[in-house]
Amino acid sequence: MKKLYIETLGCAMNTRDSEHMIAQLNSIEPYTLTTTVGEADLIIINTCSVREKPVAKLFSEIGVFAKFKKQGAKIGVTGCTASHLGKEIIKKAPIVDFVIGARNVSKITEVLDKKHAVEIDTSFDESNYDFSDYRTNNFKSLINISIGCDKGCTFCIVPVTRGEEISIPSSIILKEVQKSVDAGVKEIMLLGQNVNNYGKYFSQSDEVTNFTSLLQSVSRVEGVERIRFTSPHPLHMDDEFIEEFASNPKICKQIHIPLQSGSSSLLKSMKRGYTKEWFLNRCEKVRAKVPNVAISTDIIVGFPNESDEDFEDTMDVLEKVRFDQVFSFKYSPRPHTKAATFENQIPDNIASSRLTRLQARYYEILEEIMHSHMNEEHLVYFDELKSDGMVAGRTDSGKLILVKGSEELLGEIKKVKITKTSRMTLIGSLV
Ligand code: 5AD
Ligand code: SF4
Repeated sequence: MKKLYIETLGCAMNTRDSEHMIAQLNSIEPYTLTTTVGEADLIIINTCSVREKPVAKLFSEIGVFAKFKKQGAKIGVTGCTASHLGKEIIKKAPIVDFVIGARNVSKITEVLDKKHAVEIDTSFDESNYDFSDYRTNNFKSLINISIGCDKGCTFCIVPVTRGEEISIPSSIILKEVQKSVDAGVKEIMLLGQNVNNYGKYFSQSDEVTNFTSLLQSVSRVEGVERIRFTSPHPLHMDDEFIEEFASNPKICKQIHIPLQSGSSSLLKSMKRGYTKEWFLNRCEKVRAKVPNVAISTDIIVGFPNESDEDFEDTMDVLEKVRFDQVFSFKYSPRPHTKAATFENQIPDNIASSRLTRLQARYYEILEEIMHSHMNEEHLVYFDELKSDGMVAGRTDSGKLILVKGSEELLGEIKKVKITKTSRMTLIGSLV
């Protein structure tokens, strides 16, 4: 059997794209996955380009793979960096056999035998494509609900790499959900760049729906016990959605609400469409309806023109919302984005010290939050066997919990009492 080495960088959408590529390859000829480059017949690097660093690493990585690959093995570069660099990748690294963009995943089987094929059309429509089945995780399914993004945030390269936003027909999504529960999966993760814009545009149907209605349909599928989604846009978090989030028992009480900045003037130049007050209002509203909700966020520091006062606004939101998880980044100018052309780019040392301060305060808050869970009881869905006689699972609010146990726990949802806390993990025992 042929062997595939696939490296997946970036977000959950990329993880799903890798699964789709594996599924398509397997539909032609079975592949087994390997973690050793040297034994692979096919090497795929599924790239991310949201920040500059991983892009810079790509070419050194190709060099390493070229050195260790076995004779005749092919190398493909796919994903977001493939979308925006296209044939430049082959020019710079002719050892690469093919390049496939983040919106051309279904073409993986077509390019295998075409030397130096480049498929990066960002208007290519995969929203109705009937992908074959492949899932890495037996307990949780990633399911795309839309492709692309229309928002045009001035810092973000995604519209360039994934093209315009198209919703996937609900019939296709529900079919995926059904297939997942038939395979024993209890948890569904709905994926999109902007999930709560769902239903705005379909390329081949005149379906009238929205995200709230999709959540209701998914939760009606028998066998679905947990629903998560990522990411909603704060601007589109209307009251109807918050009501559904709060009242639907199958929707996990964890929500990622990307802040980006706490300064209303920076939010304006980021073209986010909301203010600091709106963001705080949405978080307050969610908390009022779901007091034990876990809220996570993304924050960028050092965006062009960010003053000390702007940064204090971000710190203020951190203080007020007390996020359960903060993904924080230094602003990284990206090609083809508006913000890359803005004057007043922030010096790296200032951005670094802001990032350090933000992260330090986040960790203090996190320590307090985690400690406050001591002695609580939570329902935990177990999905991973650890080497030291422990089994890992997640609470409804997405917190990682470890308990002593064995594989019988995998795929089970059990009540657990928390007996020890640390900043990153909770330890518990079955009740
Ligand atoms: N620089 C730094 N961070 C960025 N993100 C997106 N674009 C950039 C950029 N140019 C962050 C945002 C987004 C997350 C996925 O990555 O916070 O929500
Ligand atoms: Fe995902 Fe964005 Fe990275 Fe593309 S650029 S892989 S959409 S995080």
